[in-house]
Amino acid sequence: MMLKIENLAVHYGMIQAVHDVSLEVKPGEIVTLIGANGAGKTTILRTISGLIRPTTGQLLFEGNDLTKTAPQKIVAAGLSQVPEGRHVFAGLSVMENLEMGAYLRKDQGVKADYDQVFEKFPVLKERKNQDAATLSGGEQQMLAMGRALMSKPKLLLLDEPSMGLAPIFIKEIFSIIQEINAQGTTVLLVEQNAKMALSVAHRGYVLETGKIVLSGTGAELLASEEVKKAYLGG
Ligand SMILES: Nc1ncnc2c1ncn2[C@@H]1O[C@H](COP(=O)(O)OP(=O)(O)OP(=O)(O)O)[C@@H](O)[C@H]1O
Ligand SMILES: [Mg+2]
Repeated sequence: MMLKIENLAVHYGMIQAVHDVSLEVKPGEIVTLIGANGAGKTTILRTISGLIRPTTGQLLFEGNDLTKTAPQKIVAAGLSQVPEGRHVFAGLSVMENLEMGAYLRKDQGVKADYDQVFEKFPVLKERKNQDAATLSGGEQQMLAMGRALMSKPKLLLLDEPSMGLAPIFIKEIFSIIQEINAQGTTVLLVEQNAKMALSVAHRGYVLETGKIVLSGTGAELLASEEVKKAYLGG
């Protein structure tokens, strides 16, 4: 198992945002976590990344417990998150943003990986010296993904990559997610766009008010009456 979450509970002060969540991601999978606003999706991703500490439960990445590991050590172990709303470094150039993604690496492959990122996102190569702040929303999403890829993650966590994007960009982003996965990166994808997420995912989990209420293969969930009613507009 690449990631194993068991009986996770997360609180913000007195408020419990995540209740007894268990989920698994196997090497090579795209797993999606879908749910409405406020369901707890971001909270779960930020807990995996070590930015929030759980109240109870286990978080195992390749068998190692992460619940006390510092966020930068979690990145170094091979787990990288693209946050909701991208959060690129606006005052830095595209190239400098990508360099930030690689800053923990000491291996010789970094140069070749810039080329790989530019191959996936040709627009980033064109804009390499441009301030990140001047990129469009879709381009910023690509930069945030490219920056995460520069840490050479085994597991990539994506928080709503399609948010705010035009349909054509959404299609492109999802096809790049599939390409990244096909090239060997395991993906945990959080989305409100249930239809797109379930159509690219091997498996999925449905989160409602902090609890997992359904799980199955992407195809099973797409066909489920409950999912159709609640997340696919009937
Ligand atoms: N820093 C915080 N302090 C207090 N409550 C928070 C905090 N962050 C999130 N919450 C609450 O925790 C719950 C889960 O929020 P979370 O951001 O994880 O949801 P989400 O599924 O990512 O939603 P969205 O789809 O809108 O991004 C919500 O009720 C939210 O109000
Ligand atoms: Mg969120």
